[in-house]
Amino acid sequence: MSFWSKLKQIFGSLGVDMAMDLGTANTLIYVKGRGIVVNEPSVVAIDTRTNRTIAVGKEAREYLGRTPPWIRATRPLKDGVIADFDAAMGMIDGFLARVFKRRSLLSPRIVIGVPSGITQVEKRAVKDSAYHAGAKKIFLVEEPMAAAMGAGLDVERPIGNAVVDIGGGTTEVAVISLCATVYCESIRVAGDEMDEAIARYLLRTMHLEVNPAIAEQVKIRIGAATPEGEEKSMDVTGKEVRRGGPRTVRVTSAHIVEAVEEPVDAILDAIGRALENTPAALLADIKERGILLTGGGALMSGLDILVEKMTGIRAWVADDPLTSVVHGCGEAIEDPARWERVFIA
Ligand SMILES: Nc1ncnc2c1ncn2[C@@H]1O[C@H](COP(=O)(O)OP(=O)(O)OP(=O)(O)O)[C@@H](O)[C@H]1O
Ligand SMILES: [Mg+2]
Repeated sequence: MSFWSKLKQIFGSLGVDMAMDLGTANTLIYVKGRGIVVNEPSVVAIDTRTNRTIAVGKEAREYLGRTPPWIRATRPLKDGVIADFDAAMGMIDGFLARVFKRRSLLSPRIVIGVPSGITQVEKRAVKDSAYHAGAKKIFLVEEPMAAAMGAGLDVERPIGNAVVDIGGGTTEVAVISLCATVYCESIRVAGDEMDEAIARYLLRTMHLEVNPAIAEQVKIRIGAATPEGEEKSMDVTGKEVRRGGPRTVRVTSAHIVEAVEEPVDAILDAIGRALENTPAALLADIKERGILLTGGGALMSGLDILVEKMTGIRAWVADDPLTSVVHGCGEAIEDPARWERVFIA
């Protein structure tokens, strides 16, 4: 055995195997035996003159909409899948470089969460980018399955569990039993669509132009899916479209309820369709165990109430909805033999 392969083996045994939730909004990386080491927005800034990555994550997010022409700040994923391959690789590279100083020696095994509605081509793109970043072996897990595992559901038994993962780009509603997805409904409506709906609403009703990042801040601070909760408000500064100058308006939770009605309805419809297509025995299990809401969108105030009203089934939000998927993928990399059944062939 050569010196290098020996060294590789040593590093391997030190536990560099990892798990990754490459999300539209956030990227999380989990290292076997260590836990979560990266939890940052999925954003990368690239110097187009040299093709070098100059910032990733939180730092790169500050660049969005504020760059000179030769710097490209971008979100490489759209609707849960890689939309810009080079940017995605630059971003993954940037995150890994932070965690591992001498990465060329590592070649880890990686578990990666992917949307369940993903196409062959999209799967290929995820795998290629991970191999490019130095992975030795890649296991893909459907995100709702990972989220269920991460939230602590018992997915191994022949019992129906319902999971709704509302991310940035996609909402996935899955019914799980025996480590498999029995039924899944995936729509490309989630947090990003809510941000866009809020931006459109402010433009239409207040003639205020804001970018999606500001709309997202408004959603997180005062957003709600139902008018029943506590009424909050905040001042939002944007561009007055008729005069072109800056303008500040007071926006309330009630405004946001109205603004996000369409995407919220689309999510409720998807949940309704999934339950309609679920066999009776599993449905009875779900009625007893409730519906798990996860992904950052699950934090939208009042969404659980709406789901309960519509389905007549208790809905509960995961303890830490933003980390469910990476924790599930992490559990899989801790013991790949046990979780073999959840890996996509
Ligand atoms: N308190 C909050 N209220 C409402 N939405 C929130 C809150 N916190 C985060 N979000 C939203 O959650 C979304 C990000 O969730 P998450 O990190 O689960 O998505 P992702 O995994 O990156 O995306 P996807 O799974 O679609 O690829 C964003 O749209 C963000 O605005
Ligand atoms: Mg996600």
